Amino acid sequence: MITYHPAHRCFLLKAQNFFYVLGVSPNGDLHHVYWGKPLSPTAWGRLFSEWEKRAVETEHHVSREFQRREFPDFGHNDLRTPAFQLEHADGYRISEFLYDSLKILPGKPDFGPGPSSRVEETDHAQTLKVVLRDSLHKLELDLYYTLYPERDILVRRTILRNRGSKPVSILKLSSASLDLPPAQWHLVRFPGRWANERQWREGPLQEGTLRLESRRGISSHEMNPFAMVTRGPADEEKGEVYGFVLATSGNWLIETELFRDQSLRINAGLNDFNFKWRLEPGKAFISPECVLAYSSQGFTGLSLAYHRFIRERVVGGFWQNRPRPMLLNNWEATYFKFNHEKLLRIARAGKEAGLELFVLDDGWFGKRNDDTTSLGDWFVDRRKLPQGLRGLSDDIHGLGLKFGLWIEPEMISPKSLLYQKHPDWCLHVPKRRRRMARSQLVLDMSRPEVRDYLFEAIGGALEEGRVDYVKWDMNRSLSEVGNEILPPGRQGELYFRYLMGVYDLMDRLNRRFPQVLFEGCSGGGARFDLGILHYHPQIWASDNTDGLDRVFIQYGTSFGYPPLVMGAHVSSVPNHQTHRSMPLKWRCLVAMSGNFGVEADITKWKPSERKELADYIQLYKEIRPIIQFGDFYRLESPYQSNRAAWMFVNPDQKEALLFVFQINPTTIGEKVKGLKLKGLNALTAYEIEGQKVKLSGKKLMEEGWFPKAFKKNKKSYQCELFKLNSV
Ligand code: GLA
Repeated sequence: MITYHPAHRCFLLKAQNFFYVLGVSPNGDLHHVYWGKPLSPTAWGRLFSEWEKRAVETEHHVSREFQRREFPDFGHNDLRTPAFQLEHADGYRISEFLYDSLKILPGKPDFGPGPSSRVEETDHAQTLKVVLRDSLHKLELDLYYTLYPERDILVRRTILRNRGSKPVSILKLSSASLDLPPAQWHLVRFPGRWANERQWREGPLQEGTLRLESRRGISSHEMNPFAMVTRGPADEEKGEVYGFVLATSGNWLIETELFRDQSLRINAGLNDFNFKWRLEPGKAFISPECVLAYSSQGFTGLSLAYHRFIRERVVGGFWQNRPRPMLLNNWEATYFKFNHEKLLRIARAGKEAGLELFVLDDGWFGKRNDDTTSLGDWFVDRRKLPQGLRGLSDDIHGLGLKFGLWIEPEMISPKSLLYQKHPDWCLHVPKRRRRMARSQLVLDMSRPEVRDYLFEAIGGALEEGRVDYVKWDMNRSLSEVGNEILPPGRQGELYFRYLMGVYDLMDRLNRRFPQVLFEGCSGGGARFDLGILHYHPQIWASDNTDGLDRVFIQYGTSFGYPPLVMGAHVSSVPNHQTHRSMPLKWRCLVAMSGNFGVEADITKWKPSERKELADYIQLYKEIRPIIQFGDFYRLESPYQSNRAAWMFVNPDQKEALLFVFQINPTTIGEKVKGLKLKGLNALTAYEIEGQKVKLSGKKLMEEGWFPKAFKKNKKSYQCELFKLNSV
């Protein structure tokens, strides 16, 4: 747990599988002392004496750059990238925050609006609050560390409080910052683009500063707000891995600076680019959360910690522990061209195949026959749906399906009634051109009247349609981020105010419709982050439904996020994004590895295909608890081999699922090694259904097993799902 050791002026945060240690130097600077494997008493003693020697500053030789700091300022004699930067009323940008006090709190304080991971009584969580003070300007920095010891998770955030009499401008404020000791540091990041999100990229860090970030107002396709650093190259079982996941959906920054001595500084939080926040006397600014995790045994341990934590402490509300319905979405089936009857026909076929929820995607409102109009006009288009949303939803419900609806609240089409009425409601800079993307502008979500309108208009539609599910989309990055209400000196606040406005609307709609299942979406997966997951228990992972690309997308995503929250759909071939035709079995097994859905006009499929789909739907229903609430293990990486393989294991370790996807044929002479399974009980024997194989968990995990069929595989795109049962 969390303890303070006055003799050494150190704080020790003890999780099951890591220690995190902070210390106060003799001159009051906060230092990062250690983060890694639990230490023996001897190692602990050595660590302190080393640190105590290093912690002493001498006028003569030592600069702070030799020290490992926690939440460093800038401008004295540490000229590395700072964790924060302030501009004081006198114009100077030099601050000096020194240690003031500490508090160890049970659980976790309430930080007010915005995403926040939860603490339940069973967690034994504690929060360390370290207060640093700049006495000249009467400013206080509160560093919060909430430790979930049994989950191996540390959640950090920062609050700046102005206790002085003059305003101060925040130019940068990280949520977490620390210096790791010299090593051969590697970085794993998850870049991408539309239809190819969260690709796995690994490599050694070189000297200099690297910014992983978004400046788009959304967390972005281009880079996910999640990164890992490893001490030397790591793999699934070996190596020390440090994870940083930001719980924010707007402009973010994870910054690494590999210094000349190979020590590594990491700052993670809101992006300082285009950011300036004026903090009035008596006010506080609260940073988003950064969720830290550590594993001394490679990526697997880190992913398991994040998966459980996200499922149980980030996702909340009615749907937290409930199996998610298998949906049928009409987007790729009809695009904008549909009417009541056509939708019903598709829904009926979905019901026959065993699906549980029908989702009406874009095009049901205003006069929206393509993507150039009507965003903002959240009332039903009676030309397409003469019986209204209620008429359609009654018929869908009548089939025994739940009914879901697509919305894109944050947008406005210039061709809309809303724009005619409120041309000033979008983000804009006066007298400048408003640049469109997908023919749309972005509403200024910082304005309460905009949110009130959306709350009423969208709330009304959800009520009229007796909606059970909502797909909340967001299809463009922010540009011309300006607002005529904020005074000139405060335009730098707008990105963050926009984001807090979005969260506010999400929160209000969640409260009004507590049992509605919300799914986040942003041109596919451009807002796949913990901020959204706090409000929306699942997210559409990517607009790319191609079975092959999806293997890579879902594999990359799985490092930080559990399969439960990853929307994954089976669609028609040739695929609409890649024009590739993957076998139906492959498409189904990939979608079954996440939160399963179908996005196709299956009335056009051959009876045999519909039968095959129905069989997989039936199978998914049987294995859904293991997929959605079991533990996920990666076995083989498609980024490094000809195959992807992964597993799901039930918490009681009695059942497991093994998915194997082989991309190209096995080449002549290729030595196919056994797949070492994971997460099983070593002492239990397992039977692999349909394989006449019975082996101990130990053998399966240590020696491995490989299905014969793959060894002499002459075709591309072979895949299989194996079910293991303990006997
Ligand atoms: C975005 C979404 C798609 C679909 C369309 C509708 O691109 O990611 O799934 O909803 O919008 O316009």
